[in-house]
Amino acid sequence: MSAVVETKNLTKRYREKLAVNALNLTIEEGEVFGFLGPNGAGKTTTILMLLGLTEPTSGEVSVCGFNPTHQSIEVKKRVGYLPENPGFYDDLSARENLLYMARLNRIPEDEARRRTTEVLDQVQLADDGRRLVKEYSRGMKQRLGIDPDGAIRILELIQDLNRQHNITVMLSSHQLQQVQQICSRVGIIVKGKLIVQGAMDALGRAILKGREWNFLLEVSGQAEGIDRDLQGINGVDEVEKRSHGWFLRCTEDVRREVLSVVSRRGLSLLQLRSEDPTLEEIYLKYFREA
Ligand SMILES: Nc1ncnc2c1ncn2[C@@H]1O[C@H](COP(=O)(O)OP(=O)(O)OP(=O)(O)O)[C@@H](O)[C@H]1O
Ligand SMILES: [Mg+2]
Repeated sequence: MSAVVETKNLTKRYREKLAVNALNLTIEEGEVFGFLGPNGAGKTTTILMLLGLTEPTSGEVSVCGFNPTHQSIEVKKRVGYLPENPGFYDDLSARENLLYMARLNRIPEDEARRRTTEVLDQVQLADDGRRLVKEYSRGMKQRLGIDPDGAIRILELIQDLNRQHNITVMLSSHQLQQVQQICSRVGIIVKGKLIVQGAMDALGRAILKGREWNFLLEVSGQAEGIDRDLQGINGVDEVEKRSHGWFLRCTEDVRREVLSVVSRRGLSLLQLRSEDPTLEEIYLKYFREA
C-alpha cells in the first residue's frame, strides 16, 4: 500500500457496540485530511487503531507502510499525535509539566526554561505556574493545554509543516471553519461508517444535489420584511439573515424571482451572488440525518 494511511474494512467492536464499521480510508502523502464526525462517531477509536494503541476487531490498516498493531514502534517513530486533551500530571506544577514535556521532546534545558516562562505568561498562568495542576480549574487546565490564539497558531504550524516539509496531516476536529481553511480533502464519519470522503468542492456538488443553489443577497434601502417575500418564492428552502444581507438556500435557480422582489420593493441591489456550499452545509446535512 503506497498511501500514508490506508484502511480496508477497518472495524472495531466494543462488545455489542460497533464503534468503527468497515472503514475504508486513504490518505496520500502530502495531504491535509480533515476527519469529521459528530460525538461518538468513531473518530478517536479510528485514530487509536492507526497509532496501534487499540487493536482492530477486523479489517486491515497500514500507516507509512507498517501495520500499527504489529509494528507499532515503526509507526510511532514516524507519526506525531496531538491529542484533544493533552494529559497533565496532576502532582506536578504547570511549570514542571511543561519542562517535562520539553525534556521528552529533547529541547535543551535553558531553552525549555525560557520558553516555559514565555508560554505561561502568554496563557496568563505566570502567577500560577508553580501550583500543582490538580488545583487548577477546568479553564486553567484548558489554557495550559492550549489557548484559543494558540489554536490558530497550531493551524498555521500544521500548514507550514505540510507545505515546507510535505508532512501528511490528519486533522480530526469539530471546528468546521478551521478544517475548511486548511484541509484539501475531508472524510465524514457517522455511527462508525465513513459516509463520504473527497475534495471539498467535489463533496459539495455530490452531496447537495437537492439544494445546490445558494445565493447571497445584499440590498440597500428599507428592507424590513423582505425575508417573508423571499421565503415565499418557489424553490427557496431557507432564508437566513447574515450580517450584510440574506443567505438563501434553494432547490433551483431563483435569481430572477429574487430580483423582482428587490425591484418591487424599490430597493437597490448591491449584490446577488451564488455561493458554493460550505463544509458547514455539508456537515449539517449529514449530521441532521445522522
Ligand atoms: N473503551 C470503550 N469501551 C466501550 N465503548 C467505547 C470505548 N471507546 C469508545 N466507545 C464507544 O465507541 C463509539 C465511538 O467512540 P469514539 O470515542 O471513537 O467517538 P468520537 O468520534 O471520537 O467522539 P467525540 O467526538 O465525542 O470525541 C461511541 O459509541 C463510544 O461510546
Ligand atoms: Mg473523540
